[in-house]
Amino acid sequence: VTDLATDYLGLKLAHPVVASASPLARQFDGIRRLEDAGAAAIVMPSIYEEEIEAEDAAFSSLMEHGTLAQPEAAGYFPGHSAELGSLEGRVETLHRAAAACDVPVIASLNGSTPTGWVEFAHQLEDAGAAAIELNLYRVPTDPARTGEEVERDWLETVRLVRNAVSLPLAVKLGPWLSSPGNFATKLVENGANGLVMFNRFYEPDIDLQTLTPQPDLKLSRAYEIRQPLLWIALLARRIGASLAATSGVETHEEVVKYLLCGADVVMTTSSLLRHGPEHIATLKSGLVDWIDQRGFDSVADIRGRLAAARLAHPEAYVRAQYVSILTGYGQDGK
Ligand SMILES: Cc1cc2nc3c(=O)[nH]c(=O)nc-3n(C[C@H](O)[C@H](O)[C@H](O)COP(=O)(O)O)c2cc1C
Repeated sequence: VTDLATDYLGLKLAHPVVASASPLARQFDGIRRLEDAGAAAIVMPSIYEEEIEAEDAAFSSLMEHGTLAQPEAAGYFPGHSAELGSLEGRVETLHRAAAACDVPVIASLNGSTPTGWVEFAHQLEDAGAAAIELNLYRVPTDPARTGEEVERDWLETVRLVRNAVSLPLAVKLGPWLSSPGNFATKLVENGANGLVMFNRFYEPDIDLQTLTPQPDLKLSRAYEIRQPLLWIALLARRIGASLAATSGVETHEEVVKYLLCGADVVMTTSSLLRHGPEHIATLKSGLVDWIDQRGFDSVADIRGRLAAARLAHPEAYVRAQYVSILTGYGQDGK
């Protein structure tokens, strides 16, 4: 038998295929379906900083004036009303799911300003979350702010969440940093037990009829593994944290590639939205077949075989690859 066991954030998982944050895990039944389909762990969709702050504001206004007021900023945030109690249902779902499921149910918080909303993490801990995934999604649009200032806020946010809970903490981050490895190291120093790489950014298109931005959501394709794949290879075994791969998993081949580069778990959303949660079984059996056919005997056996920690000069290696890709283009007649 092939041993697929892995460790993520100190959680013992039967295998490395995890359902990343998505609407599939929004309701109790969806979470159960993911567990039945074989997910090794399940991340619930994020609770956003804006939702928590809107609810806090509504609560304060109720206390002060006896009425609910919609804060201005909520206008930018469709679907997130300041209705009191709207988060209560989400926490209740987590509570039920955590009690009913044998696999870890991970709660996700999404925000990046180091303010009071982070205290909400404590409620997620009380409700039975196995871990917290903190998604630091923010596009720093102010040209006056330096990268260092932006990162300082993010690190402070991580520290506050770290202090609010004793649960394992994963941080989901974007790739757009001058020195991702350095920031990853600082995340770990500030309390992250794992990194989820990377956030996908959903840049809008433009509608040439209406001259307005057109946000739409395209599910990922397998070629999108490449950026997280490179960074997982560069960071594996070098930063003292678990690494979760997210983006671009469609078949077991992407799962295998991520593991070879050093991922501890491999997350998927797009493939499950495309093919249904039952696709997890296909990914898993493809992984087992690949391991068997290649004469390996476990996930531990293949993990990190292509991690850059084995290289003496990773930066020179990556640079050399870049140059040879560009200068080699067309030379094989393609
Ligand atoms: C419809 C949809 C909803 C998502 N919701 C969340 C969310 O609530 N929180 C979060 O951190 N990521 C969210 N994501 C991002 C996914 O967790 C995942 O990181 C991303 O889709 C890349 O992985 P994939 O290529 O397997 O889809 C969402 C993705 C999709 C497609």
